[in-house]
Amino acid sequence: MLRDSEVEALRSSFPILEQKTYLYNCSQGALSSEVESGFADYLRSWRTSSAPWDEWMGMYERLRTAFARFINAEPDEIAIVNSASGGINPIASALSFDDRPKVVMSEFEFPTMGHVWLAQRPRGARVQFLEGVGDTMPVEAYDRAVDERTRVVPVTQLSFLNGFRSDVEAITTIAHDRGALVFLDGYQDCGTRPIDVKALDVDFFVTGTLKYLLGPPGLAFLYVKRELIETLTPTMSSWFSQRNVFAFDTQHLDLAPSAQRFENGAPPIPSIYGALPALDLLSRVGLQNVAAQIERVSRTFLDGVHALGIASKTPDSSVGPLVVLRAHDPAAALARLTARGVVVSTRKDGVRFAFHVYNDIADVHRALNVLEEIPDLMVSA
Ligand SMILES: Cc1ncc(COP(=O)(O)O)c(C=O)c1O
Repeated sequence: MLRDSEVEALRSSFPILEQKTYLYNCSQGALSSEVESGFADYLRSWRTSSAPWDEWMGMYERLRTAFARFINAEPDEIAIVNSASGGINPIASALSFDDRPKVVMSEFEFPTMGHVWLAQRPRGARVQFLEGVGDTMPVEAYDRAVDERTRVVPVTQLSFLNGFRSDVEAITTIAHDRGALVFLDGYQDCGTRPIDVKALDVDFFVTGTLKYLLGPPGLAFLYVKRELIETLTPTMSSWFSQRNVFAFDTQHLDLAPSAQRFENGAPPIPSIYGALPALDLLSRVGLQNVAAQIERVSRTFLDGVHALGIASKTPDSSVGPLVVLRAHDPAAALARLTARGVVVSTRKDGVRFAFHVYNDIADVHRALNVLEEIPDLMVSA
């Protein structure tokens, strides 16, 4: 657990925190001085190096290793891609739906997860969306729907819509018992607590750098369990998916034996330079510490919300980082919060308050103070 003085010291790395109550982390993490220096290093390398690609390939491999360590995977299980969609698509393109046409997912998944698998319908996929009970998705819904005809179960670790936390272990057990694969989308959680993809036993994991990983847009990661990699042949490919990227052999497809086979063309170098210092920063702070601080501030916020009598979409049991409050008029609530320097976002009928390790109790009180002034815009509990 970080001391208040340590949180205070950390805050000084994020200049925007001097001006704003920054609770926008579910959309974009705050820019740190470390990440800014990473971008300066990228520009310097481009300006001064006669062969910058040699240096850039070194950074690309460093990032692969750093991220693998971050989620307890091996570097050859990681593909570096431009977006989460860019990680999900090659897997979808590689799976057969002949004997197992079903794709079963919750209605709380991020839209891209629906769209990628729906786009597989011409190849035989049948997508089934599970209906939530209010803002929860009981494990029993998966238990009823996943069967011997199910190919894959995409699971959002934490929903962008309502902050609901999925029971990944229970869903994975159900899916594996019936021979289905599990594709975990950790975009709304990765960077907020320790994660171990081996312990979770998921088959695929995707996340990107721009939210809680505190990095730039344009960069995401796909993890594929080692024993699955060479059984999957994506029907979308590129020179960067090849065993020897620099063989320049246009006429032969020779896919990498590693997860690199799921990559898509030259990697996003500027974003790689920006992401490495962000991963370093989070690792230095320690993900246990990050999780404890997030729990502290989001719990205090939720307690304050309950005291104000405002309805929360996020169940009490789904502790942070995202707390979503129900609003009659989300746009007006957003405008009032923005006017008071509280940076949040909205999705449908929810106003999203997304906490990170650099948020402190003063941030919580500033947000609650504005909410106290706008009871007419919010739904009562
Ligand atoms: C849960 C989740 N998955 C995926 C994405 C983004 O996907 P992509 O990187 O393809 O834009 C987001 C947010 O943008 C998200 O919240």
